[in-house]
Parts: sequence; C-alpha cells; structure tokens
Amino acid sequence: MEHAPEGDELSMNTESDRTTSRPAKPIAPAFNLAWHMSGEKEDKAKSVEWAKEGSIEFEDVSAKYLPNGDVVLKGVSLRVEGGSRVGVVGRTGCGKSTLLLTLQNMTIVVKGVVRVGGKQIADINTRTLRGNIGVVQQEVRLANGTIRDCIDPYGQHSDDAILGALEEVGMGSDVRSLPLGLLTELTDTTRLLSAGQRQLLGIARALLQSARIVVLDEPSSSVDEWTDAMVQGVMASAWREATVIMVAHRLSTVADTDVTIVMDEGRVVEVGRTRDLLNREGSELSRLTLNSG
Ligand SMILES: Nc1ncnc2c1ncn2[C@@H]1O[C@H](COP(=O)(O)OP(=O)(O)OP(=O)(O)O)[C@@H](O)[C@H]1O
Ligand SMILES: [Mg+2]
Repeated sequence: MEHAPEGDELSMNTESDRTTSRPAKPIAPAFNLAWHMSGEKEDKAKSVEWAKEGSIEFEDVSAKYLPNGDVVLKGVSLRVEGGSRVGVVGRTGCGKSTLLLTLQNMTIVVKGVVRVGGKQIADINTRTLRGNIGVVQQEVRLANGTIRDCIDPYGQHSDDAILGALEEVGMGSDVRSLPLGLLTELTDTTRLLSAGQRQLLGIARALLQSARIVVLDEPSSSVDEWTDAMVQGVMASAWREATVIMVAHRLSTVADTDVTIVMDEGRVVEVGRTRDLLNREGSELSRLTLNSG
C-alpha cells in the first residue's frame, strides 16, 4: 500500500457536498521536518489561543504505550485545519484509538511532534490540553462515581448546566427520571441505561467543555437510531465549528466527513477528501469493508 503523496496539497472544497454552509477546509498531508520535544510547560489557563484555532498536526509521529512495548503508531504525518470534520478508518487494531490517545498525550511519543493550534502538545500542561479536547470514548468506562462525576469530573459546573448538556443530547428527562438523578452510580447505569445512552453521557461531557476540538471514537458495535440522531444533531449545532476527528466504523459516519484518514498497521496509508476517496476505484477507503447504515 502506498502512502499519501508528500506535499500534495489537497484543496477541500466540500461546501457543495454538504447541506450545511460550513466553509470548505483544506488539509495538507505528510511532510517531514526535524523534530524536537523540548520546552517548558506553561500555565495554559492564561492562554488557550491554540485551542481556539483548532488545527491538528502530526509530524512523523511514532508512539507506544509502554516504555518497553512495541511501537504502535509508526511515523504518522497529517495536518487537519481547524473546523474540519475528519474520519479515521481502518481494520481493528490498526491504531485508530491510539491516534486519538496520542493527541491527548496519553501515549509515549518516541519520535516526531504533535501540535494543536500550532503548539507542541509536549509544551502544554496535560490537564489544560485534555480540558480543551472534548473526548467521547469508544465505550463509556464504568468507573466509580456518579453520572454527575462522569459528566463533570472536576466539579466545575452547576447541576442546571449539566442537565442542560443532557437535554442537548436528549437525555435530560431520562436522567431526571432516575430515582437518584445525577447522583445515580455509574455502575448502576449498565442496567438503567442502554449502551447508546451511556455514550450520550460522554457527548454531554464534551458539550459542557465547549471544546473547539472534539475526538470521538465511534463504538464498533451498532449504534441505535436514537443515539445516532442525537450525535448528528450535536454535530450540526454545537460542534458545527469544531474540529471533529472521529474514528468511524460505519459508511454513513464516513460519508459525513470532509476528510478521511485510512490507517493500516499503525501507519497512515491514505488521506484525502472523503468524496474523492469514496469515488476513486481502488482507493484504500473504497476497499475497506465498513458497516453499512
Ligand atoms: N493500552 C494499551 N497497551 C498496550 N497496547 C495497546 C493498548 N491499546 C491498544 N494497544 C495495541 O495497539 C495497537 C493499536 O490498537 P488500537 O486500539 O489503537 O486499534 P484500533 O484501530 O482503535 O482498533 P479497534 O477498531 O478494534 O478499536 C494494537 O496492537 C493494540 O493491541
Ligand atoms: Mg479503537
């Protein structure tokens, strides 16, 4: 399989293929420059201009999970302009979730540089970085704590604000009707809420952050129609201007992106405008078997 051609600037003129009037976004794939990882961490609470700009850049990034473990991401280079909607696809175990975790500084980067809004994430206070990236996990983890803890882990928001975010994802009345409401233990949600509803809790948390960058790891299991409609609604409203990178298992999710990144065995093997890749016979994307619907 071939890598995306280096320096081949793709002009993403997606306005015509989408029903929204979001401006077209360019993406420039793979390039190589010297890498460095130095720099003092700073208090980012003072300045989060980088987060507002919303661009994301991986420059020849290799990453692993454990100091003695195997390298999982292998020389990944990509550039996503702020406000783009990007799908990440590829077979199970190819590194899609690892790519998203690396953006959150949750892996060990052994080579290369990751930048958000032009700033190296190695220079950004980790909590500030994560506080500015809305994350919707592949599966909502059932840790100890309540629904409230899950949606507002740092206890920064009022109950009204949390319930407002839940309303936005259609979960307001579901949570209000639970005997303990926001104070329902997460472990109890396995029997009280569906998998789709639990994922909506994760979306409510990301909404409350008002993050300019959102990463969304679509569950590989099927998503019910209600959850799907809610996610689409949030995409079209609250996240309309956000940079959204989503791991996609379904053709319908891919079809709603501007740009698709195809991964295989820890590498980016194709990047380009989604519509072009879907239409191009022999593209890596068209050769993948994605879930329909
Ligand atoms: N926490 C971890 N510690 C060590 N290795 C891991 C960890 N998570 C994933 N890996 C390994 O990294 C590689 C990439 O996994 P990753 O979860 O990124 O794949 P994926 O593309 O998201 O797969 P899926 O479609 O099944 O979610 C795999 O070989 C996997 O076994
Ligand atoms: Mg995954």
